[in-house]
Amino acid sequence: MNATPKNTRKLHVVTHGCQMNVYDSARMADVLAPLGYTTVDSPEGADMVIMNTCHIRERAAEKVFSALGRLRDLKEAGGGTMMIAVTGCVAQAEGDILLQRAPYVDLVVGPQAYHRLPELIAQVHRTRKSAIDTDFPAEKKFDFLPDEAAAQGVIANLTIQEGCDKFCSFCVVPYTRGSEASRPAASIIAEAKRMVALGTREIALLGQNVNAYHGEGLDGRGWSLARLMAELAEIPGLLRLRYTTSHPSDMTEDLILAHRDNPALMPFLHLPVQSGSDKMLAAMNRKHKADDFRAIVARLREVRPDMAFTSDFIVGHPGETDADFAATMALIRETEFALAYSFKYSPRPGTPAAGLPQLDDALMDARLYELQAELRRQQDAFNASTVGLVTPVLFTGLGRYPGQIAGRSLYAQPVVVESPEALTGEIKMVKITHANPNSLLGSLKKEVLAA
Ligand code: 5AD
Ligand code: SF4
Repeated sequence: MNATPKNTRKLHVVTHGCQMNVYDSARMADVLAPLGYTTVDSPEGADMVIMNTCHIRERAAEKVFSALGRLRDLKEAGGGTMMIAVTGCVAQAEGDILLQRAPYVDLVVGPQAYHRLPELIAQVHRTRKSAIDTDFPAEKKFDFLPDEAAAQGVIANLTIQEGCDKFCSFCVVPYTRGSEASRPAASIIAEAKRMVALGTREIALLGQNVNAYHGEGLDGRGWSLARLMAELAEIPGLLRLRYTTSHPSDMTEDLILAHRDNPALMPFLHLPVQSGSDKMLAAMNRKHKADDFRAIVARLREVRPDMAFTSDFIVGHPGETDADFAATMALIRETEFALAYSFKYSPRPGTPAAGLPQLDDALMDARLYELQAELRRQQDAFNASTVGLVTPVLFTGLGRYPGQIAGRSLYAQPVVVESPEALTGEIKMVKITHANPNSLLGSLKKEVLAA
């Protein structure tokens, strides 16, 4: 099917969805590099296109089919040699349907099987038939990923945990990503050291339920996330740590105290709460109450006063009344988030809530509009509150315009400053002078420029 000689194959990877998919896409490119695949920015002329998909909401899944239609045209125009692979959660959840609807797809590979990509590609070449692998093998995919990874940059992701056993009523993740598994600390630390050697200075530890991390520690015992991060903070050159995504039920006291005691850990937490109504939280099978969330936020602000929060919200889950929605709005108003993501409930096949009576669409739209207006106000207020601060910025590279460099604040806000030096990989104190909706402007403290 693919006649291009070894070492000159072009791979284009399209990533939808979460940070875990971003990480997985990079790992797939690493797995394919020894076969001669190098990544290119566009699907035109590529020998292989991988579409790494998201199934979390209906709109995300539908995007896959429209994008596939465009790839089919490209494949036909090129004489049919381009190999198309669909990976990620749509592959896992709807692999068979996908091959029926889009027979020009050559490969369908679920998130547990990326290490098998070379073998599956060979199978497609050999049999000239599409191949599908959406099994959940007993062995974990962590054990198979290559040690040699391409550099991700100053800020990078590292998956430490995968899967979820929580089974929230609305969510496909336990079905697409399987049960929870934590990677052993030794392999995480080794990967972090390799990343730092390649220039990474900030690592975001990823997992669908990252704060449920319970991997084997260096001493052979189960380590918590806080324990793991204490070890990672010892790596010379690793300046900053974050972790995402967390569940309120797993915010243990040792993890809360890590925000006080671990100097590398940022004062910023993504903690999805979904709703402020106890009745809805129970219907969602979230296993905690709104007050538990309030208590976690209060305790973190107590141990780390500059702590800021982001969250996820769903409006219009089956059963949500005006009073339930008002409880969510109340929780948002009193928490003051730095940023939050909010979604209209989307029924997902096979999840418990999909079988319940659904809310009126216009009502959901109206609630989402109200909620997003408040969250936008809070995000603007948070950004505005940083103006005038002198705060550490980790520089990641050049800015968009000549003479500008760009970096990230403690709260992951993009910060742009003028500087004759690139300062990439360094942390410098910056005075924030202006807040845009999604970024900040600042100036380097004078002593830095003089130095
Ligand atoms: N409908 C709407 N939003 C959803 N999310 C997960 N499943 C659904 C769904 N069926 C949201 C949750 C989760 C985020 C990643 O996506 O808020 O935290
Ligand atoms: Fe989905 Fe709930 Fe698991 Fe998060 S905790 S991945 S929302 S089932």
